[in-house]
Amino acid sequence: MKKNTYLKKITVLLFIITPIIIIMGYSWTNSTVGELIRERHNPSVICPRMISQQSITPLKHTKHLLVSAYMDQRSGGFDLRIIGIFKRDSVDALYCSLCCAGLVSETTPSIILPHSDHFGFPYGTMDVLCQIPDNCDATHVTLLTAPSTATRSEQLWIPIKNKKTSNKEENKLDLTVCISTLFGTYNNVLQFAQTLEMYRLLGVNRVVIYNTSCGLELNRLLKSYSQEGFVEMVPWPIDRYLNPSRGWNFKEHGGDLHYFGQLTTLNECIYRSMERSRYVLLNDIDEIIMPYQHDNLNSMMDMLQSQHPNVKFLIENHIFPKKYFEPSRKFHLHRWSNVPGINILEHIYREDPNSTYHPYKMIVQPRLVEQTSVHQLLRNLGEQFYVPMQICRIIHVRVALLKSLQWEELNEDKRLWDFQEKLIPNVDQVLRRAGLLTED
Ligand SMILES: *[C@@H]1O[C@H](CO)[C@@H](O)[C@H](O)[C@H]1NC(C)=O
Ligand SMILES: *[C@@H]1O[C@H](CO)[C@@H](O)[C@H](O)[C@H]1NC(C)=O
Repeated sequence: MKKNTYLKKITVLLFIITPIIIIMGYSWTNSTVGELIRERHNPSVICPRMISQQSITPLKHTKHLLVSAYMDQRSGGFDLRIIGIFKRDSVDALYCSLCCAGLVSETTPSIILPHSDHFGFPYGTMDVLCQIPDNCDATHVTLLTAPSTATRSEQLWIPIKNKKTSNKEENKLDLTVCISTLFGTYNNVLQFAQTLEMYRLLGVNRVVIYNTSCGLELNRLLKSYSQEGFVEMVPWPIDRYLNPSRGWNFKEHGGDLHYFGQLTTLNECIYRSMERSRYVLLNDIDEIIMPYQHDNLNSMMDMLQSQHPNVKFLIENHIFPKKYFEPSRKFHLHRWSNVPGINILEHIYREDPNSTYHPYKMIVQPRLVEQTSVHQLLRNLGEQFYVPMQICRIIHVRVALLKSLQWEELNEDKRLWDFQEKLIPNVDQVLRRAGLLTED
C-alpha cells in the first residue's frame, strides 16, 4: 500500500519534470552558452594550445621574431602592442588573432609601426598593434600572415602582459634600471658588483638584465643577485636565431641586428616596467647615473619632477679613463685582487666631454614613452630636459674616449668616495655570497 503511493508520486513527478527538462535543454542548446559548450568540443577554436615559453619566438611563415605582448591603452583603440624583431625588407600585412578566455576570436588587421632607428641593419625593432574585440578577456595573442585562420593551429601563442588586474602587487617600484644585452664572455665582476651596490644605495629597486651570455664568475654573481630578487634576468638567446652584431653600425660591423638587439630590449624593458615602476633608467652595465647634490636618485627625481613635470631627463655621460689610478691606492683592497674586473673607486679622473660629442642616457617615466632608442626617444608624449651636470652625471669608468687627453687635463672627481663607507661592506657581502671573495 505504502509502496504504491510512492510509485504514483514518482510517476506524477516525472510527468511534470520531463517536459521542463526537454524545454530547458532545447533553449540551452540554442543559447550562447550552448554554443560555447559546442565550440569547446571543436578543437580549432580552443586556445591557447601551444604557448611560447621563450622570450624570443619565431613567427612561422615569416622571417620575423616576436618578443612580447603588452596591453597599452594609450594608442586609441589598438590596445595591444606586440614588440618584435622584423626583417625590414619583408614586412607584409599581419593579422591579429586573440585568445579570449579560452576561445579564439575573429582575426583582425594589425598596424605595423617600424622603429626608425636601425643603423642600417637588415633586422629592426617593430611594434605591431592589435585591437581587442569587445567582451574579450584577452590572455594570449598570435599573428597570422593571412586573414583566414588556416595556419592558426601552427602558431605559438604569446602571453599578454600588463593586464590591469594581474600585477597590482608589483606596482610599487620607484626606480628600475634597464641594462640591455649582456653577451660574449663579459666578466667585469668587480665593476658590476660595485655598480649594482651603488645603485642600491641610490634607491634603485630593480635591475633588469637581458642575457645572451656572460663570463663564468659574472654568471655566479648574477645568479646570486637574481635569487635575492634585486636583479631580474631575462634570457636573450638572440644568437640562436640571428647573427647579431657586436657593433652599432651595419656598414662598419656587418651582421643582422644592431648590438645584440639592444634597441629591442630597451623597449621591452620600458613596457615591462610600465605598470610597476615610476622611473626607468636606460643605461649600460658600466654606467652609474649619479646625483651630485642629492643623497639618492629618489630625492633628485622629486626635485626635477616638480620643476619639469612630464618630461624625459637626459643625463650627460662622463668618462673616467681606467688607465689613470688614484695615487694613494687606498681602495686597492687585497681581498678584491682575485675578483676579475675594474675597481671603480680607484679611478677618479674625469674627462671633460669635448665640444661636439655629448652622449646622454635617459631617465624616463615609462608611461610617457612609446618607442625609444639608446640616446633619445623615437616616439614619445612630451618634452625632454637636459639635466645640468652639477645636479647629475654618468660616472663611466672605461677606456679613455679622448685618448689624447693627458692626466693634467682631467678633473678630479671623488663623488663615489662619498659612499665608500657603506659601499665597500655591501660589495664584500655580495661577492662573499657568490663565493667570489678571497678572505684575508
Ligand atoms: C646567461 O645566459 C647563459 C647562456 O644561455 C646561461 O648559461 C646562463 O646561465 C645565464 N645566466 C643567468 C644568470 O641567467
Ligand atoms: C670629439 O670626440 C669625438 C669622439 O671621440 C670625435 O669624433 C670628435 O672629432 C671630437 N671633436 C673635437 C672637436 O675634438
